Amino acid sequence: MTETASAPRIIVTGGAGFIGSHTVVALEEAGYAPVIVDDLRNSRPEVLEGLERILGHSVEFHRIDCGDVQAMQAVFSQPVHGVIHFAADKAVGESVAQPEQYFSNNIGSTARLAGMMRERGVQHLVFSSSCTVYGEAGELPVDESAPIQPAASPYGFTKQACETLLRYSHRAAEGALGVALLRYFNPIGGHPTAEIGELPLGTPANLVPYLTQSVAGIRSELTVFGSDYPTRDGTCIRDYLHVCDLAEAHVAALRWLERAPGMLDVFNLGTGEGSSVKEVISAFERATGKSVPHRFGDRRPGDVTAIYANAEKAAQVLQWRTRRSLDDCLADAWRWQEKLKG
Ligand code: UD1
Repeated sequence: MTETASAPRIIVTGGAGFIGSHTVVALEEAGYAPVIVDDLRNSRPEVLEGLERILGHSVEFHRIDCGDVQAMQAVFSQPVHGVIHFAADKAVGESVAQPEQYFSNNIGSTARLAGMMRERGVQHLVFSSSCTVYGEAGELPVDESAPIQPAASPYGFTKQACETLLRYSHRAAEGALGVALLRYFNPIGGHPTAEIGELPLGTPANLVPYLTQSVAGIRSELTVFGSDYPTRDGTCIRDYLHVCDLAEAHVAALRWLERAPGMLDVFNLGTGEGSSVKEVISAFERATGKSVPHRFGDRRPGDVTAIYANAEKAAQVLQWRTRRSLDDCLADAWRWQEKLKG
């Protein structure tokens, strides 16, 4: 094995997904060799072609379920430096209808993956968690010490459960497993080349893909869910960050684990700024010159009024901050939408 001379292999589960694919690019740029593990149940093979065009070469890819211990043998048969675990079901509404699927897939695969890593002595694990663990936070901006609220959906519960599970795995490993738990706020945008971006299958549940599809004429209009919230303009507030900034945070987390092997810590990843739905619409119109057809509708059950990050811990410990603006995010999201049309 000549692995010592080559780039460290990082398994990226869900590497064909939205955040995963952008992280593959960031890993390559930082000198790692990403290895995509994705069964493509919720993404498309074209993502791999987009990655190849950005990187100028193909990426090692295994079309398997990361929770399939047998199939994962092939991936672990060569040295693995670390794992970034994105693969999970992520639709809040679907999780209410299919809780068993969410428990089994999200928690089961994380458990098996952590077990495989411990068996093989793979030291670094970066896990995709979510600001959803905070529920309706008492104080804003929310920092990592805020209490975890009872989960509002099976999806949210699986993120909390995986965090807890990985704390136990970390403890059991007695210093042999380092874990970065990353709590994402709202990632949007796409790669500036428009070679990769968000590819929702079917009707998008999230704001920005629905918005860009409405502008593109695929949907008749965006429904703004609720205009009577106790916020500055009556619409919900979220912390939207560029997916390329978020991707870079995963590299920063790996670097931190290399500096501090065997540690476990949790980090908020956001801009620190909240934007309302109305402000996102205005920013989109400013950034692209296109108007957004929209109407105001009822609140969506389960939505929190406002949440945005205190991301100072990531700045101090991971040496990571967002660099791209909301307008950058929306311009890139639109470029991607236009590319899809063409
Ligand atoms: C939620 C979770 C997040 C999870 C994501 C997965 C929270 C705080 N966040 O994000 O952890 O990863 O779901 O799907 O629980 N909106 C509209 N019209 C639309 C769509 C959305 O007005 O057609 C509004 C929503 O009411 C919300 C904002 O846009 O205020 C963002 O919604 P969305 O993009 O779905 O993300 P979250 O619900 O914040």
